[in-house]
Amino acid sequence: MNPFTYCNPVKVVFGAGRLAEAGAEAAKLGRRAFVVSYSDNSVKGTLARLGELFDAAGVAHEEFLEVVPNPPIEMVAVGVEKARAFGADLVVGVGGGSAMDAAKAIAAGVLYEHGDLWNMVYACHSNVTTQPPEKALPLMQIPTLPATGSEMNMCSVVSSLARKQKSYIWADCLFAKTAILDPELTYSLPPFQTACGGVDAISHVLEIFVNGQEKSDLLHEFQLGVIKTIIKDLPVVLANPTDADARAEIMWAATCGINGWASPGDAWTPIHQIGHVLTSHHGINHGSSLAIMMPPWMEYFKAKRPAPYERFEREIMPIPEFKAFIKRCGLPTTLSEKGVTEADIPGIVQGVKDVSFNADGVMSCIPPVTEADVYEVLRRAL
Ligand code: NZQ
Ligand code: ZN
Repeated sequence: MNPFTYCNPVKVVFGAGRLAEAGAEAAKLGRRAFVVSYSDNSVKGTLARLGELFDAAGVAHEEFLEVVPNPPIEMVAVGVEKARAFGADLVVGVGGGSAMDAAKAIAAGVLYEHGDLWNMVYACHSNVTTQPPEKALPLMQIPTLPATGSEMNMCSVVSSLARKQKSYIWADCLFAKTAILDPELTYSLPPFQTACGGVDAISHVLEIFVNGQEKSDLLHEFQLGVIKTIIKDLPVVLANPTDADARAEIMWAATCGINGWASPGDAWTPIHQIGHVLTSHHGINHGSSLAIMMPPWMEYFKAKRPAPYERFEREIMPIPEFKAFIKRCGLPTTLSEKGVTEADIPGIVQGVKDVSFNADGVMSCIPPVTEADVYEVLRRAL
């Protein structure tokens, strides 16, 4: 097992109906809550209930409902100004990864003293001015879409519309103080978002399983456990969106897949790096980008490093069946379905290099991933 340093300070309040405790939990953290969520109606019911709970707990609150998927830093900047004007002493994210990541970036942005908020963003290669935030307002996260694990990690994924890039802010201060995981909040998810979330959560551990360290029985069992749980329960909730047990299992599996427990000492997720460029260049949403890229990646790298792929095929399912599973869940499995052609590939490869290749000109995985590898996997995904 690789050496690691691990600290996860997030208090998790988990279980059906536990949203009821949001007011009391918020009151322990602040008196003026800035609530960050989507502009559309999908979580309006949750927001209304939260407002009542905050009122009852004596927590003043203001809503910032301007989050769109793949939160742009330009929107974050607006949120920062509004949070300052409100005098927020607590930021609450309500929604999926985009809402929670926007809440994190706003909480850090309010106290950021190093100029352009994009300076907070980490990139391996071309962003030499990176200055991660050192402090943030206290955060509370209320996920309504199990997928990204943002509720229990130190990462915020943001985009720059101006730069057409998507990358990470990565800082200790982005851990929430408290996360309320109430599976009932996920019953309203449409099948497409449910499937995107499940496939994203699989990808977080699968990418570590196939690209990470060779020797750790425990971590590999954790990773396979997350994958097995989601593969078992995703069809259940797609057939019955209010299946309480399956929604709960998926919610905790998604959190545990990327809260550090399943991957300490093993950091990089290279398929995600390609996915981010598919999002920023071609508007393909996060879960779909991974749905498309995982099977061809696995087929291609199986030839270079057979052991983890053979174990996946033994313990989970053969790669072609995995692709068929993703398709049955209602997600795209080819780039052409999303209008991407071979002529687009060089631009996508360049986008991955700009953000995610290290100074040695590779992505640091086992084996290291080259420009030619990325090109070939994209070609196979057409
Ligand atoms: O816009 P509306 O119509 O309101 O729909 C929302 C939202 O747009 C809908 N939704 C969310 N909860 C719902 C619901 N609809 C009905 N009922 C509910 N309970 O879902 C739409 C998509 O939401 P979004 O937050 O964008 O989805 P997701 O959770 O998949 O987050 C994706 C973002 O998280 C980042 C991704 O890159 C992407 O930007 N990630 C963040 C990570 C992290 N912080 O650690 C890691 C991940 O790998 C991921 O990269
Ligand atoms: Zn992801």
